[in-house]
Amino acid sequence: MFRQYGRLKHWLELSPTEVLRGRLSRKIAFWIFAGLVLIEIIILLPSYAKREQDLLTDLEQTGMATLKPWVNIPWDRLSADNSTLLQQSLVFDSRLRGAVVLSPRGQIVAQFGTAPTLQSSDLSRSPITRSLHTNDLIYDIAWSPSEFGTTKYTVIASLDASQVKREKIAYLWRIIGLIVLICVTVTLVTMLALRPLVLKPIDQLRLDLQKVGLAINHDQSQPALATQSIRRSDELGEVVATFHLMVSQIYDNVHERKQVEHQLQELNEDLVKTLTELKAAQASLVEAEKMAALGTLVAGVAHEINTPIGTSITVASTLADETHVFLEAAQSGQLKRSVLNHYIDVARQSTQLINSNLDRAGQLIQSFKQVAVDQSHQSVRTFNLKTYLDEIGTSLQPQIKRSGHQLNILGDDDIVLTQDPGIFAQIITNLVTNSIKHAYPSDINGTLQLQITAANNQVILDYCDDGCGISQDLLNKIFDPFFTTARHIGGTGLGLHIVYNIVVQSLNGTIDVQSQEHKGSQFKITFPLTPSPPVET
Ligand SMILES: Nc1ncnc2c1ncn2[C@@H]1O[C@H](COP(=O)(O)OP(=O)(O)O)[C@@H](O)[C@H]1O
Ligand SMILES: [Mg+2]
Repeated sequence: MFRQYGRLKHWLELSPTEVLRGRLSRKIAFWIFAGLVLIEIIILLPSYAKREQDLLTDLEQTGMATLKPWVNIPWDRLSADNSTLLQQSLVFDSRLRGAVVLSPRGQIVAQFGTAPTLQSSDLSRSPITRSLHTNDLIYDIAWSPSEFGTTKYTVIASLDASQVKREKIAYLWRIIGLIVLICVTVTLVTMLALRPLVLKPIDQLRLDLQKVGLAINHDQSQPALATQSIRRSDELGEVVATFHLMVSQIYDNVHERKQVEHQLQELNEDLVKTLTELKAAQASLVEAEKMAALGTLVAGVAHEINTPIGTSITVASTLADETHVFLEAAQSGQLKRSVLNHYIDVARQSTQLINSNLDRAGQLIQSFKQVAVDQSHQSVRTFNLKTYLDEIGTSLQPQIKRSGHQLNILGDDDIVLTQDPGIFAQIITNLVTNSIKHAYPSDINGTLQLQITAANNQVILDYCDDGCGISQDLLNKIFDPFFTTARHIGGTGLGLHIVYNIVVQSLNGTIDVQSQEHKGSQFKITFPLTPSPPVET
């Protein structure tokens, strides 16, 4: 991806001449030139071969014409002296280097000049045997007797082909010159024609692409395009039109994307604001819910203390009445023994009742005070878990009894923890009030049970009710903040969220829930017995 972008950037940065020289033009020129050279070679090569053939034939005919009179001399009938004289007197064309005349038996009957390289043994069956040798400079020819018609001799001549060779080479150079001239001219003309037709528009297109690419990269508006003026109906025109369409689509998309980005940014800012507000609201709701749990306990306190104080007040007023009756009798001087005895009896019973009731109230206040203080202030102290849970149970009794249920707290009564006890009050109050609120229809009396065990340095608080239970699809949601099925009756959905946070963060433990519909729910809290440092919630 990056490499491709790098290559594109490099390409975009090239100047037009560099591109044309380096790429398209050079390739087009090369292929036109190569094609033309090939065509010319195919066309002109046979003409070269023909030219060579013509020159050799010409030489051959010259040789034959020169030799004809000589060959027709009846050599066999001449004396040796005459033969020598005749040979010396003959004049030949300068291109004839020499010749021999052979009898049918292959003996030399006459000879002059340089002897040909071609021997009688080299002769083929064809009427004429030819041999161009010594670097194409010498052309030997042997004619069979029939070729000269009037003689029975075979004639072998050696001809000077240097002239032929010179002409051949001159002809070749002419052809090469012609090929080069044609190819260069055609290529140049083609390139000149191609430049305005193809190369220039392509170059403009390249520059436009570069401009658009840079503009998009730098987030600028659509630049003016040089190809805008091109109006053509050929393929290049289509390419240019498609390019313009593409650019305008890209700009449309960029515009749309920017708008969406802007909207998203605004939305995001709103969301961040809302989230901050929500977090603040959640924190204050969690605090309120904690206070509500405290309120529940305070209500319990008030109710529980009401009975002994009320009894004490009633007894005290009865005692006051009896004292008044007794005082009147004493002042009138008619105090009977029976009246005295009755008063003493009433006073003893009353003081006993008042004492015991105020004692009870004192005890209740003592334990409630502890629970309430623990809930409102975080303070770590060492306490007996079972005793403390019993005190919480007592504070919750009024509520439990009012709804006709029963709470049993069972288990080890020698577990001692060094912890913030208020968190247990929070946990148990939430679990119990949830059972009362969610688990039972109004006419059903349920049993709530809290079992405490310690094993392997772990404490287990096993709380269960025998109510309606929680359906499986809700089980993994009940610890979520604000999840409630009881919003219509004031549920906040924060109770179990608080319990979960306290267990995980403050107790360093875990909470598991299991439930079967119509059979009840079970919350099992496990945490290490070793006290963990308290965490601010
Ligand atoms: N003991 C229970 N029996 C049945 N449902 C329960 C019980 N405890 C909790 N739930 C369900 O879990 C939900 C969440 O409880 P909670 O977080 O305490 O919120 P709230 O009590 O405000 O609804 C309740 O709305 C209820 O549906
Ligand atoms: Mg609740």
